[in-house]
Amino acid sequence: MSHNAFDLSGKVAIVTGASRGLGQQFGRALAAAGADLVITSRNPEDMTDFVAEIEAGGRRAVPLALDLRDESSITQFASAAIAAYGKIDILVNNAGCNVRKPALEVTWDDWNLVLDTNLRGTFFVAQAIGRHMVERGYGRIINIGSVTSVMGYAGLAPYCASRGGVKQLTMSLADDWGRHGVTVNCLAPGWFRTEQNKVLYENEQWVDYLKDRIPLRRPGQPGDLAGSVVFLASDASEYITGQTLLVDGGISTGATKATLDDV
Ligand SMILES: NC(=O)c1ccc[n+]([C@@H]2O[C@H](COP(=O)([O-])OP(=O)(O)OC[C@H]3O[C@@H](n4cnc5c(N)ncnc54)[C@H](OP(=O)(O)O)[C@@H]3O)[C@@H](O)[C@H]2O)c1
Repeated sequence: MSHNAFDLSGKVAIVTGASRGLGQQFGRALAAAGADLVITSRNPEDMTDFVAEIEAGGRRAVPLALDLRDESSITQFASAAIAAYGKIDILVNNAGCNVRKPALEVTWDDWNLVLDTNLRGTFFVAQAIGRHMVERGYGRIINIGSVTSVMGYAGLAPYCASRGGVKQLTMSLADDWGRHGVTVNCLAPGWFRTEQNKVLYENEQWVDYLKDRIPLRRPGQPGDLAGSVVFLASDASEYITGQTLLVDGGISTGATKATLDDV
């Protein structure tokens, strides 16, 4: 390749769930690589500062409303996103939620909230934008999974089920749309401190416990996901589809000590 295969100049990327947290980290990385953005929240006014930040860096960011649990919201968002620039090249399917509870306490409504948002919502956003990408014969879809796509954790039963589903969904869509020039991969972060889980990080004992299980000995930090999202969005990954890329400091290795000398 003679050009910079990681350059996203001229590309348009959607990042769902960009009012805070990892969605903003993905948006920042894609914009820094040259992409213009469509960003979403249930409350687009919550993204005013982020729009200003992206525009101060010389890229555009169009804020749109999207509620993953509302079918008509997904349809309206998809039309508005495509109309905003006349095309979409990249979709980062990031918006999601969690309910952290022992399995015996999970309610019917907890289950529906997590599965409707993380799995059904992710699929129908991919379908709405995928239809446009298939027609154009080009697209990069990046579904945000999690280390829980490949591992089980107590207290996260609906969440792990939803994220395991996102990994399987990714493989299925990759097979469906590969012949149309659309790649579909899953980017699976490990443990990153955000609004969704900040209560855990306020407990130092728990943070020590977590670090001990991560081979690289720290939770994820802002910037740790930048290279992987740009890679999966760019020409550098053009022959990769259906894969799950874990960006987790190695925690998905299992990280259980099999010797007694460093316990
Ligand atoms: N933090 C981690 O360690 C970690 C690890 C692996 C995977 N993940 C996943 O990565 C994604 C981002 O995580 P985060 O930690 O940044 O979470 P976060 O701080 O809670 O942000 C979640 C984002 O999703 C949006 N969202 C939630 N429910 C929605 C709905 N029904 N419709 C549309 N948008 C909705 C929120 O937007 P509004 O509330 O503004 O609508 C917000 O922008 C999530 O899918 C999460 O499960 C996180």
